[in-house]
Amino acid sequence: MNNFILRLLIITVIQVLTYAYPLNDKEIDCVEKYNLNKTNVEMWNVQPIIPEENVEMLQFMSCYWKKLGYQNDNGEIDYVKLSEVVYNDLKKRFLSDCLHIVAFIVENCRKDINNDSDGLKVVKMWNCLNIYTENLF
Ligand SMILES: *[C@@H]1O[C@H](CO)[C@@H](O)[C@H](O)[C@H]1NC(C)=O
Ligand SMILES: *[C@@H]1O[C@H](CO)[C@@H](O)[C@H](O)[C@H]1NC(C)=O
Repeated sequence: MNNFILRLLIITVIQVLTYAYPLNDKEIDCVEKYNLNKTNVEMWNVQPIIPEENVEMLQFMSCYWKKLGYQNDNGEIDYVKLSEVVYNDLKKRFLSDCLHIVAFIVENCRKDINNDSDGLKVVKMWNCLNIYTENLF
């Protein structure tokens, strides 16, 4: 990605304040399933960028995306489904047709995903989408 844009976006991201929101039922299931620290998950859950070495969040995000159907049990991300969700989110916020932009973003983010662990795939995707879109969902 263009370095200038990247820097600009990172500055935006850093300005996002640290709030914690209550988790929904699916999210709580994941916290319990992996015996994660709920306070930490609540805090990181609203962050647009999650550090790749945050093992708790790798487990949590992968579990949650599997529940939502964005990742299958083999760890493959469903880019079609994910694109729909990104599209709906952006359309709501910008009230314009952005199908081409979404396709561009998802295609670019896909390139970062290698033969990574399930959790890393999700977190890399999450971070990349948020770098482009500021803060999804
Ligand atoms: C969760 O992590 C926070 C620090 O991030 C810590 O203060 C708290 O004791 C931890 N809770 C449990 C149940 O381990
Ligand atoms: C991906 O990684 C797994 C485990 O690290 C390995 O078993 C598998 O062969 C790798 N697949 C490819 C296509 O590199």
